[in-house]
Amino acid sequence: MTQRTKVGIVGVGYWGPKLARNFHDLPTAALSIVADLNSQRLAEIKKLYPEVEVTNSYAEMLQKVDAVVIATPVNAHFNLARQALEAGKHVLVEKPITSNLDQANKLIELADHSKLTLMVGHTFEFNPAVEAVRDLIQSGELGTIYYMNSTRANLGLLQPDINVMWDLAPHDISILCYILGSNPEYVSATGVTYINRRKNLAEVVYLNLTFPENILVNSRLSWLDPVKQRRLTIVGSKKMLVYDDIADDKVMIYDKGVEVPPYSVTEEEFKASYRHGEEKVYALKWIEPLKAECSHFVECIQTGQTPRSDGRDGAKVLSVLEMAQRSLENGAVTLRIEYNK
Ligand SMILES: NC(=O)c1ccc[n+]([C@@H]2O[C@H](COP(=O)([O-])OP(=O)(O)OC[C@H]3O[C@@H](n4cnc5c(N)ncnc54)[C@H](O)[C@@H]3O)[C@@H](O)[C@H]2O)c1
Repeated sequence: MTQRTKVGIVGVGYWGPKLARNFHDLPTAALSIVADLNSQRLAEIKKLYPEVEVTNSYAEMLQKVDAVVIATPVNAHFNLARQALEAGKHVLVEKPITSNLDQANKLIELADHSKLTLMVGHTFEFNPAVEAVRDLIQSGELGTIYYMNSTRANLGLLQPDINVMWDLAPHDISILCYILGSNPEYVSATGVTYINRRKNLAEVVYLNLTFPENILVNSRLSWLDPVKQRRLTIVGSKKMLVYDDIADDKVMIYDKGVEVPPYSVTEEEFKASYRHGEEKVYALKWIEPLKAECSHFVECIQTGQTPRSDGRDGAKVLSVLEMAQRSLENGAVTLRIEYNK
């Protein structure tokens, strides 16, 4: 039997404990040690998992594990991941992979050079609902995709170091690229800081992406909304779909559309008719996405396969974010996105 992979987690604030629970429960991994600068956070982990070591020293953690999971705020991702890779450890780093593309490229280079697994926590790529949406698009069930609309909103949590786009849009961008199997070509973004004006970190951003074949996507990202929403509407030529991550029935398919007479009709004869067919719940086989993500990370380490959301996937999301940020700072100008060669 393959030995359990020894995992250490650095950063156990809000998200780290969820990673800790999943790695603790995985039969293929052993959660051996957890590091944080905050002793109170460590004491809470110790209470939950008395057998797991806790430490304030990241250097100590690096000596005791095969793999490191980084769940600190983004400004610490690069240094922690670089140190781990240089120490020969596999890395799962939370999204966004780093604060900028140069840093992400350095991590990719380091991991490639040492043949280590570098994965980014694009959790939604492991969500059964997102996998179903991808299958429905790729199988042609929805027809030609026209446009999409997504909303990722809630009250908070305002971040001290990044705006709402850098916090929430990595999810939308990774989901969209994954379900469409392509990358956006153009981006524009507009946003406003209503609360944290000293730091000018926008709490509301409207992001527009254009994918190949003129697929338009608008994404509303907000930390200032009374109701938590995680919703994606997809309009195709044959069918339409709503993926609501908060609903019990997460994927709804609508046999709705607009029919037009063949092009041979004259302009005067042009008349659209509307199809209002049945609405169907798409049945999902549910597994907690974070569990699937953690299990995939360990499997990649043990088999040498490339992660579904690898460092390059993380860098791709950063290419979009960096260009979107430039647009945000320049009057929502539309910019062409350049990717790593
Ligand atoms: N995949 C997802 O769905 C998802 C959801 C939420 C958050 N996240 C990501 O998880 C990461 C953490 O977010 P959070 O909301 O848990 O943040 P948080 O502020 O609640 O927790 C961060 C923890 O890291 C610790 N820390 C900071 N710098 C450190 C360092 N240099 N060494 C050791 N510990 C350090 C802090 O003391 C704190 O306990 C972010 O990258 C965020 O984007 C991902």
